[in-house]
Amino acid sequence: MTDRKLNIAVIGLGYVGLPLAIEFSKKDNVIGYDLNKLRVSELNKQYDRTNELSKEELLEAKYLKVTSSEEAIKSSNIYIVTVPTPVDKNNRPILTPLIKASETVGAVLKKGDIVIKINDYSIDDMMSYMETLSKFNKGDKAEVSVLRDTKIVILNIEF
Ligand SMILES: NC(=O)c1ccc[n+]([C@@H]2O[C@H](COP(=O)([O-])OP(=O)(O)OC[C@H]3O[C@@H](n4cnc5c(N)ncnc54)[C@H](O)[C@@H]3O)[C@@H](O)[C@H]2O)c1
Repeated sequence: MTDRKLNIAVIGLGYVGLPLAIEFSKKDNVIGYDLNKLRVSELNKQYDRTNELSKEELLEAKYLKVTSSEEAIKSSNIYIVTVPTPVDKNNRPILTPLIKASETVGAVLKKGDIVIKINDYSIDDMMSYMETLSKFNKGDKAEVSVLRDTKIVILNIEF
């Protein structure tokens, strides 16, 4: 489709990342990247073990490519990281997945800053991004403004 302008990469295809990737793929090209090869293989057979998405919904998502290849995300313009942020027994965040995912993205990032804002919530860092996503319920609609350099792109998404 000629109006597909954005190439979005969603890093981490869990409870949050997979539905997000599916929604974005309704309008733009999406690469869903996960380092869990079993998860990738299952999703490519339209099986979501988290039961967030049905086989039919996965089959319909023809502009979503699911991969564990870092090479495949290189051509993306926007990177959204949705990897786990667990805590240890002392309630301190375990940042290893986030650091590893940041290294993956950092290795392919091109010149240009990206700021994501969803409805009235300004997204300044990964934690505020996660917090904002948690305010939405399945079926809610949101307008997402993405600022890259000086250009604003508006996305309308349904959760
Ligand atoms: N699940 C929820 O209801 C919920 C709600 C609000 C916010 N969040 C936040 O969203 C984030 C994601 O949570 P989730 O529940 O989707 O996690 P999840 O455990 O369901 O999925 C995370 C996925 O990321 C993959 N992954 C881990 N490290 C990776 C890496 N370095 N590169 C690529 N893929 C990697 C895992 O294989 C897994 O498939 C967390 O920060 C969580 O706190 C979750």
